[in-house]
Amino acid sequence: MHKISRRSFLAAGAGLSVMPFPAWFEKYAAAQGAATATRFDVSSTAGKQMLNKYAHAVKQMKALPEGDPRSWVFQWYTHWVKGTTTKQNELNRIYPNPSDPNRAIAVKMWDTCQAHGPGMDENMFLPWHRMFVYFFEHIIRSVLNDSSFTLPYWNYSRANAHAIPPQFHMQGDPTFGSLFRPNRNPGVNQGQPIDQGQPDNPLGLQALAQLTYKPQGAAQGFCAALDLGLHGNVHVLVGNSTNMGNIPFAANDPVFWMHHCNIDRLWASWNRAGRQNPTNDAAWLNQTFTFVDVHNNQVVQVVAKVQDFDDIAKLRYTYDHFEPVPGATGPVAAAPGTESMSAAAAVPSPTPLAAVAGNVTLETEPVRVTLGPPNAAGPTPTTTAAPSAAAPSQPLGLAARVAALPGNRRLYLVLRHLRADLQPGVLYHVYLDLPEDVEPTDEEAHHVGTINFFDAAAHGDHQAAAPQPEKFYSFDITAKAKELQERGQLTANPAVTIVPVGSPVSEAKPAVGEITVQEQ
Ligand code: C2O
Repeated sequence: MHKISRRSFLAAGAGLSVMPFPAWFEKYAAAQGAATATRFDVSSTAGKQMLNKYAHAVKQMKALPEGDPRSWVFQWYTHWVKGTTTKQNELNRIYPNPSDPNRAIAVKMWDTCQAHGPGMDENMFLPWHRMFVYFFEHIIRSVLNDSSFTLPYWNYSRANAHAIPPQFHMQGDPTFGSLFRPNRNPGVNQGQPIDQGQPDNPLGLQALAQLTYKPQGAAQGFCAALDLGLHGNVHVLVGNSTNMGNIPFAANDPVFWMHHCNIDRLWASWNRAGRQNPTNDAAWLNQTFTFVDVHNNQVVQVVAKVQDFDDIAKLRYTYDHFEPVPGATGPVAAAPGTESMSAAAAVPSPTPLAAVAGNVTLETEPVRVTLGPPNAAGPTPTTTAAPSAAAPSQPLGLAARVAALPGNRRLYLVLRHLRADLQPGVLYHVYLDLPEDVEPTDEEAHHVGTINFFDAAAHGDHQAAAPQPEKFYSFDITAKAKELQERGQLTANPAVTIVPVGSPVSEAKPAVGEITVQEQ
């Protein structure tokens, strides 16, 4: 184990200690009991008991002065400072004394949600949020003085659990009123399933089918598939731009933590089935983030490394239920460091087969664009892609390629460089070669996936992030394309149709920078 020098405790000066995670864990977390803690489904008996404790804790945290690291505002701002102001303004308002030691922690911690700000690394999404949830759970133990507390999770993918748990919309209730937020999307606080009216399954566990953590050629990889897919869909379906739908406000909704506890459980499920984290990537393992804990009114600043958080067994917690992973044979022994070797051997680089020419601006109505030969995809003006204007002169021959596709090759529809001025507030559904006269919601055979702009919208005191190569959507269309081809429904120059469900915010201006079909 790690030896802790006395100096490290005193580094930050009076009243504030700084500890590396292993030292903190040994001193405080492991000392709370050797047993593994279990996190429960919020709808189970044990989960409901935990939710009751949680509601009390939220009430107490909201009553604390904002500058206290245990306060609701401090924890919310760790994710992102509310969008109507800036981090600097809030630091000055909450900590008028510039030498307040809690201010120094806030400087390090606030606005750190990974990877939803400019220049952040997409692959930090899972570990940063695991840390955030973990330390929040410890803060609640401290507030309640109850070391048996564990955060419950909301498993919205389960049948009959698509609505927000009822305790979150009991406005004025003496126990659960603290969990209420008035500004969720219409219907959510009436207990309506959040995916009501959506085609296909935006709450599905498709991300678990990814074989690698990072993108692998045209395949999205588990981290981005979960972040940009299910994770973002739930944010957008629960709340608007002053609530769960917008990064600077998301963590002010108490249901945020039940959402991220579930995301953490899905990561643990994926690993449990033998899927590997990028444990051969030293930069990923050694990345550190600062969090805070409070013991006996002593504030402890904890410096955590990703390698301390890549396995929940090391952290001594578990879940009452894990999800099965498609194609996995069950729990297997971890073989760290094998990912990139097998990836390099197994996947030839993708071949672009088709592309949409230029930027596609989305509208309140469905937008239909035509796929053409990839080289023809030059930059075109940023206007609505009119169906006829984008039609290539030569037939693409995609149908023939689909018919001849070898069994070990896959086809992906890849959408890159999403951006929006504001979060549009709706999900967009993506269809392949949807006939122009067909109602999209009736055509499951053409539906290939769902996109959202939770991550792509400008937010808070910064504009939309610069395009990141690791952030893209990709949908495996192999089966759909073959089925359409066999039914004679794949046209010579197939179209991609993107359809909003509901009414997008009119000033949002969402756009997709690049759409291609790739084979690998
Ligand atoms: Cu930091 Cu669910 O977002």
